[in-house]
Amino acid sequence: MKMGPVKSICVFLAIITTCQAMKFPSYITRCSRTDPKLNECAAEHANLALPDILKGDKKNGLPSLMPLEIPEIHLMVTESLKIYLKNVKLFGLENAVIKKMDLDFDNKKCKITAFIDFLNLMADYEVDGHLLILPIVGQGPANITLVGGSFNYDFDYSLAMRRNRDFLKFDKFNLEYTSERMYIRLDNLFNGDKMLGEHMNMFLYENWKDVSEELYPSLRETIGTFITSIASGYLGRIPFNNLFLP
Ligand SMILES: *[C@@H]1O[C@H](CO)[C@@H](O)[C@H](O)[C@H]1NC(C)=O
Repeated sequence: MKMGPVKSICVFLAIITTCQAMKFPSYITRCSRTDPKLNECAAEHANLALPDILKGDKKNGLPSLMPLEIPEIHLMVTESLKIYLKNVKLFGLENAVIKKMDLDFDNKKCKITAFIDFLNLMADYEVDGHLLILPIVGQGPANITLVGGSFNYDFDYSLAMRRNRDFLKFDKFNLEYTSERMYIRLDNLFNGDKMLGEHMNMFLYENWKDVSEELYPSLRETIGTFITSIASGYLGRIPFNNLFLP
């Protein structure tokens, strides 16, 4: 997946990527590049640092991620379905557990496997189009929950020289995920028509698997872009050589 020029996300990206270089945060314990157990070390220390990372760091322009707030997201689900979300709040990143890391310096690649048992998105939605085969239209509050999410995220990087120092630059990423269950609740569908609205919510509840499959391509691109922008907000601003102990 190329880093898509997703308009709405650029707003968010701008907040964290335009800032200057920063020091290595004191709450992250570094690992040695030559440690034969580097991957285990990196995963362990990332897990330990996660609560502090999620708290954010105002001084360095890093927003709090509890919840992660996103002004707007445009999802192009299919040709016939667009979903617009605004005032998005994503709760539950603090439940993330990094299971595995795989750093490959020779090929400049990194793979991360993480598990999040409960991830909840609250937003104001606008929807218009067809979901699976059913017409769906409306606007109101949305509650989308992912239970038992397993995420495989990987990226290729290059090193970019700035003021005589190498910085990590994300070149392309890929995200795949599975979940045990997805819940979608859209209130006030069909102009507030209670009966049609409840029907559709029942359909979303019962057919969550098909719905989740339909949303998958657009969600993995969007979620992947956010992970990348957050990760590069940290990793892209610390000189590469300072990310590890010598
Ligand atoms: C959102 O949906 C989840 C899953 O159904 C539920 O547990 C949670 O209480 C809901 N949140 C709100 C604010 O309604």
